[in-house]
Amino acid sequence: MTSSSLWQPFALGRVALPHRLALAPMTRSRANLDGTLGDHTATYYAQRASLGLVITEGTQPSEDGQGYLNTPGIYTPEHVESWRKVADAVHAGGGSLFIQLMHAGRMAHPDNTPHRRQPVAPSAVSADQDIRTAAGLQKAPVPRELSAQDIQATIAEFRHAAASAIAAGADGVEIHGANGYLLHQFLSPNANHRSDSYGGSLENRSRFVLEVAQAVADEIGADRVGIRLSPAMPLGGIDEGGTESVRAQYRHLVGELATLNLAYLHLHHVGDDELLRSFRDVWPTAVLVVRYGRTRGQIADDIDAGLADIAPLGRFALANPDVVERLRTGASLNEMDPSTIYGGGEAGYTDYPALAHA
Ligand SMILES: Cc1cc2nc3c(=O)[nH]c(=O)nc-3n(C[C@H](O)[C@H](O)[C@H](O)COP(=O)(O)O)c2cc1C
Repeated sequence: MTSSSLWQPFALGRVALPHRLALAPMTRSRANLDGTLGDHTATYYAQRASLGLVITEGTQPSEDGQGYLNTPGIYTPEHVESWRKVADAVHAGGGSLFIQLMHAGRMAHPDNTPHRRQPVAPSAVSADQDIRTAAGLQKAPVPRELSAQDIQATIAEFRHAAASAIAAGADGVEIHGANGYLLHQFLSPNANHRSDSYGGSLENRSRFVLEVAQAVADEIGADRVGIRLSPAMPLGGIDEGGTESVRAQYRHLVGELATLNLAYLHLHHVGDDELLRSFRDVWPTAVLVVRYGRTRGQIADDIDAGLADIAPLGRFALANPDVVERLRTGASLNEMDPSTIYGGGEAGYTDYPALAHA
């Protein structure tokens, strides 16, 4: 059994959640090449509807936004139709669906996108990272610097993608500002070398994230928008400097985002609890916290400490469609199979057994 704090209901934006767990966003690379969803994706999410808040895998708002192989999109009428099946299936299971809008920026390879163009980013600085492609691992190339006009077009793409998510029946969207992708690249001094109003000072580096959040909130309503951030997370070659630089950057950013009254702030937290506490003090709505590698016994810790309202689950939920029931009853958990995480069909996707069949 886990801490009783997990089993309290919670009102998040427009949706009523039955408890304090959620599905963390996880890329599974099973979409079709045109960005529509594969045959088993509605089943995969429906199986996990008891998590309440179902946050989807990173989903590109445009062709430029795609970084990895077989990730889904939410910008064409076909994407909307395909996500509608997921929204209906999750709703039928009593869950709520937030589609994560992920623009990969420089964490991309042309072989993975429909247009095969050079990736875009705040500056022409390579992530110096390997990207999985159909031909195996390849280095992410040096990206093309977004012009001022491109930046406005990219913000408009986020706006369109958010409207498309709502048209598909989703309850909201999560803006992916974490883990080294486009928004995080704008925040980070080692990826953003711009000399215009989107680079230089920490205020300028925050501007793109704030404008995306504002545009998406204007489009679909702030209470249907969450944002994910990961202060100091080094993924994708990001280096945000020392503790004080990170604190200054994110105190500014979160302080400004707080004025938008979004549905939630979602932190992929790497350990600065003082910073986390300062977010909590200014953030007016829900705070979601994921800590990588959290053990089963630690899931409720941030809620119990007053640092978070919701504890989204990644890998435990990937391997256990009924993780909620398992945690509630103290049952054992399936182990995740690392070989079937990305790509493929039902194996390692929809065939993890629920308790009754375990
Ligand atoms: C297979 C896999 C795919 C992931 N894909 C995404 C993603 O698309 N977007 C995102 O924000 N985080 C992604 N993450 C990070 C998870 O949301 C989560 O923060 C992380 O796994 C830590 O939580 P856990 O220890 O409960 O797994 C991914 C993690 C895994 C394991």
